Amino acid sequence: MTETSTSANAASEQAASSPAAEPAPPGKSPVIETEGLTKIYEGASKTQEVVGIRDLDLKVYPGEIFGYLGPNGSGKTTTIKLLLGLIFPTAGTMRLLGSENIYSIDVRRNIGYLPEGAYYPDFLKGEEVLRFYGRLYGMGRRQLETRIDEVLEVVGMGRARKRLIRGYSKGMRQRIGLAQAMISDPQILILDEPTTGLDPIARKEIRDILVQLRDQGKTLLISSHELLEVELISNRVGILYEGELQTIGTIEELLSDRDISLEVEAPTEQAVAQLKESGIMTEDIVDGKATLRVPPGVSMYEALEHCRANNVNLVSVHPRRETLEELFVRVVGAAGGEKEGVQ
Ligand SMILES: Nc1ncnc2c1ncn2[C@@H]1O[C@H](COP(=O)(O)OP(=O)(O)OP(=O)(O)O)[C@@H](O)[C@H]1O
Ligand SMILES: [Mg+2]
Repeated sequence: MTETSTSANAASEQAASSPAAEPAPPGKSPVIETEGLTKIYEGASKTQEVVGIRDLDLKVYPGEIFGYLGPNGSGKTTTIKLLLGLIFPTAGTMRLLGSENIYSIDVRRNIGYLPEGAYYPDFLKGEEVLRFYGRLYGMGRRQLETRIDEVLEVVGMGRARKRLIRGYSKGMRQRIGLAQAMISDPQILILDEPTTGLDPIARKEIRDILVQLRDQGKTLLISSHELLEVELISNRVGILYEGELQTIGTIEELLSDRDISLEVEAPTEQAVAQLKESGIMTEDIVDGKATLRVPPGVSMYEALEHCRANNVNLVSVHPRRETLEELFVRVVGAAGGEKEGVQ
């Protein structure tokens, strides 16, 4: 955590508070766990070392979609590569499916991975890519052919299975990538930017597949810049900035109620003026009804008291929650991101 984040406003402090304070869900042990995980890349010289991630304490629980967020260069792919054993940590520990031996075959079999901008040799057919990866997982021929049919069906690529990757659109490549990540029916799926570059319909279809996998009990760690999507499907999110976890928690915990709007019977001009003095603005008087906008500093109880004192009759109450994008901008901004840009 940086100094700037501790001096931010109270709401910001709540969201950007120490990530370690997050309570564990009752009765669940994490399937992905890191403690003090650090990766420092060698630079051109000792003084030019680059922080990949620093002191990362991360817990991802079974059956959840975890949205792993952060600006460019904040350490998402570094974390993923460490978990996959593609690079080795400078310090810290990792545990996958309860095992510290994250490089063992049993653990590896249970992890599916979709790399950032998945690339496959373009002289292969879609089904050949899946066959190749299935063999790498040590799957038997019969089992593999059945599984290839299943995953192609899930990602909607059954008809294009015999076409060359060369002729695939970006969305088709991404779907084959997802099928490849699912081929061994792993417990954990690690997906680095799974919907980047896809059209809105393809995105929605991929999102539905991810939710379906979660509903089957799989655990998904998804890195993404698509915050609206992450908000729609994630149970918990973590936000990184310059290699450090700034905040972690469930969507409900992290997204504070931003403001409240009240639907009321049209107030008198005098009441409108009185409410305005308390910071409550009257908008949209239509058909004898008006909308009152209550700012974050005024509680629901206070707003209702102001209405009662001014003889304004309430029709309905609508809390408006902060969006994940607003939280992201707030947390990254507090950590200094707005000033410095990418590393
Ligand atoms: N092989 C490497 N050698 C040196 N530095 C690296 C290497 N890989 C990553 N880095 C640095 O580590 C930091 C984190 O990079 P990483 O790729 O993990 O970020 P990211 O969050 O995945 O970013 P993006 O959203 O752009 O994909 C960056 O400063 C990057 O320059
Ligand atoms: Mg990345």
